Amino acid sequence: MLTEVTATRYVTPLREGGSLPGIVEADDLGTYVMKFTGAGQGRKTLVAEIICGQLARRLGLRVPDLVRMQLDPVIGRSEPDQEVQELLKASGGLNLGMDFLPGSIGFDPLAYEVTSAEAGRIVWFDALVNNVDRSWRNPNMLVWHGDLWLIDHGASMIWHHNWRSAAASAEKPYDASDHALAPFGPDVTAADAALAPLVTEELLTEVAADVPDEWLADEPGFETAEEVRAAYVGALLSRVPGLADRITLGPRTERPASNAPGWLTEHVDLRPRTARTGGAGA
Ligand SMILES: Nc1ncnc2c1ncn2[C@@H]1O[C@H](COP(=O)(O)OP(=O)(O)OP(=O)(O)O)[C@@H](O)[C@H]1O
Ligand SMILES: [Mg+2]
Repeated sequence: MLTEVTATRYVTPLREGGSLPGIVEADDLGTYVMKFTGAGQGRKTLVAEIICGQLARRLGLRVPDLVRMQLDPVIGRSEPDQEVQELLKASGGLNLGMDFLPGSIGFDPLAYEVTSAEAGRIVWFDALVNNVDRSWRNPNMLVWHGDLWLIDHGASMIWHHNWRSAAASAEKPYDASDHALAPFGPDVTAADAALAPLVTEELLTEVAADVPDEWLADEPGFETAEEVRAAYVGALLSRVPGLADRITLGPRTERPASNAPGWLTEHVDLRPRTARTGGAGA
């Protein structure tokens, strides 16, 4: 089960996020990015964050730690923004927290080099969970202490919005030509060989167990939360065989222009630590 903490102070909203996540402090003295049950995107976004985030971590990808976060909307009393006030009011009780990575910066394909092996593992994982939200327009990856971290899996597993489509979607190709890591020559064959054997029913069952019952309750077509968990396990498991063959990458494209300011891309070496060693620094 995920650790549970209680929010003690609402610090500030993260305006970049469409769902208006907020930076929040908690009673364990940690600082978290809080994703709210009352956000317009609904609780399925949070279910996707947990299943995909926990699965990615178990596959060796970097994802900030996730926690269950209790919220008493009273902590937002002095928050001047009405939109934030309403979001907090609508989100009393259990929400999702993600460890805040202080000083991290958004991934920029021109400023940060990714190996084809790492790019392959991330693209393969995104194909597994049908993540449509890691394009170069919105990479949803952070660079922190020289490493790449994955965030924002809320738009994954689109088939959970219509369970009857889940079985058919297992066979569908995953178009990764727009993926933020497509320009790095992702080696999805090597990723498939390394990761596919790890995605077992046992692992998926453990990951699905981290979703709170109350976010799985009253799902149309299901009697119990356990049934819904089993549906996630079955749907993800059925996607594994032949996954690498269903990933389409398109022709290798030039890296899109950087959005980062010049002072950042010209003077700061943001390549992974490993790429910087052996005199490759300057
Ligand atoms: N763990 C974290 N540590 C530091 N910054 C973070 C973290 N999580 C998110 N952020 C920042 O907050 C922004 C919004 O977060 P996120 O993408 O998860 O929200 P969202 O509402 O799902 O966004 P979207 O508009 O992409 O759907 C990120 O782009 C990033 O800048
Ligand atoms: Mg995002």
